[in-house]
Amino acid sequence: MKTTHPDVAEILIPQEELQARVQSLGAEISAAYAGKQPLLLSVLKGSIIFLADLMRAITVPHAIDFMAVSSYGAATESSGVVRILKDLDESIEGKDVLIVEDIIDSGHTLEYLRGLLLARNPNSLRIVTLLSKPARREVDVPVDWVGFEIPDKFVIGYGLDYDERYRDLPFIGVLKEHVYG
Ligand code: IMP
Ligand code: MG
Repeated sequence: MKTTHPDVAEILIPQEELQARVQSLGAEISAAYAGKQPLLLSVLKGSIIFLADLMRAITVPHAIDFMAVSSYGAATESSGVVRILKDLDESIEGKDVLIVEDIIDSGHTLEYLRGLLLARNPNSLRIVTLLSKPARREVDVPVDWVGFEIPDKFVIGYGLDYDERYRDLPFIGVLKEHVYG
């Protein structure tokens, strides 16, 4: 098992805590969608591990779909510019859509996505994010479920990357500054 990594300064959320929180989020989300069949909309690529665990903790029938938007590339600061790289396969009209995000930082990505998806007339649109950095918020986005609020540090692991690396780490860790500094 990968318990640490030379580029990780500190483990912020260990694997056991992630797993426990995802289970409780799954229970809350299942209760909120009782009798419904939500569409889990995963924002590629950072949310894939969270999605894979969360969907197995959700007990109501559901479908998944994917969307890709431009992110930071190799930089660690948001430009506020969002571009669609891959759109959904199916229409969301009349559906109960749950956006599954890895992290909300400035909020620009989610604000843009919300507007775009609401214009397609879903029956409902809610948001679950594994992580949130409240100190960094530039736009206010209504988030229904937050896994963990974290300090203003660049984090990796459990799907989150720096320059496409470290997604496989089973914990959320703080990236050492020498890697990007
Ligand atoms: P926002 O538009 O500033 O809210 O940024 C959201 C996106 O930025 C996330 O979906 C991530 O892809 C990326 N991001 C923000 N903070 C981090 C971080 O600490 N580690 C890895 N990716 C991050
Ligand atoms: Mg990313």
